[in-house]
Amino acid sequence: MKTYIVGNWKMNLTVGESSIYLHKLLKRLKQARGLEVVVAPSLIAIQSLSLQVDRHKIKLAAQNFYHQDYGAYTGEVSISQLRTLVDYAIVGHSERRYIFKETDKDIRAKVAAAIRNGVTPILCIGETASERDFGETKDVLRDQLFGGLSDVSAEDLKKVIIAYEPVWAISSVKGARLASPDDIATSVDLIHKQLKARFGKEVEEQIPVLYGGSVNPSNAGAYLTIPGVNGLLIGGSSLIADHFVDIIDLAKRLRS
Ligand code: 13P
Repeated sequence: MKTYIVGNWKMNLTVGESSIYLHKLLKRLKQARGLEVVVAPSLIAIQSLSLQVDRHKIKLAAQNFYHQDYGAYTGEVSISQLRTLVDYAIVGHSERRYIFKETDKDIRAKVAAAIRNGVTPILCIGETASERDFGETKDVLRDQLFGGLSDVSAEDLKKVIIAYEPVWAISSVKGARLASPDDIATSVDLIHKQLKARFGKEVEEQIPVLYGGSVNPSNAGAYLTIPGVNGLLIGGSSLIADHFVDIIDLAKRLRS
């Protein structure tokens, strides 16, 4: 299985700044076997970056899209419009769930739309601090996992990536705490077990599970070596070229 290093730029960088940053990354990165580097720029920058990017080194992801392919949906952009520009799409990020009130039903429709259009969905799941404190982590992960995946066929499940992002560990969340490797190992193990119980071992073994939440160059090594973790989804640190490249180099070293 590949190691995935995904940078989620969220609502940061102008089109010009995105292009300068991508140029810097492309200069510093070499193609690495077994490593998939992905960046998710703001929607407005995706088209120009798709012309600039070297897809052997870096792939692009959408941060969001609408689940219908076309039609009278003023202001929305569909994944069928994005499909030639991106290889991946983040779906169900906690900021979409909690700020924009996306439900599991919305998220399920987006996962299906991405797959229908040949784009790999990165389905984000994770409990909030209070859900964790109430001992609800297992149920929340199960509900979000199967809420998002229940319309996907067994064959298509192999095209899905899961990202475990505990909301309480995301750097921009008030009072965020660092997740310990043990915390993450427990949840990631739960995710693998739930996938295996529902879809079988053969499918489960092909679904990468990433970790996201306050990843930086000093903790990335510890997170990447947690059993069952196949990569990282990085917010804040992905906006600092030196940090993002350091994490990629680390992932490369750990694979060799
Ligand atoms: P941070 O790395 O800034 O905690 O963000 C994580 C995240 O939400 C990535 O999608």
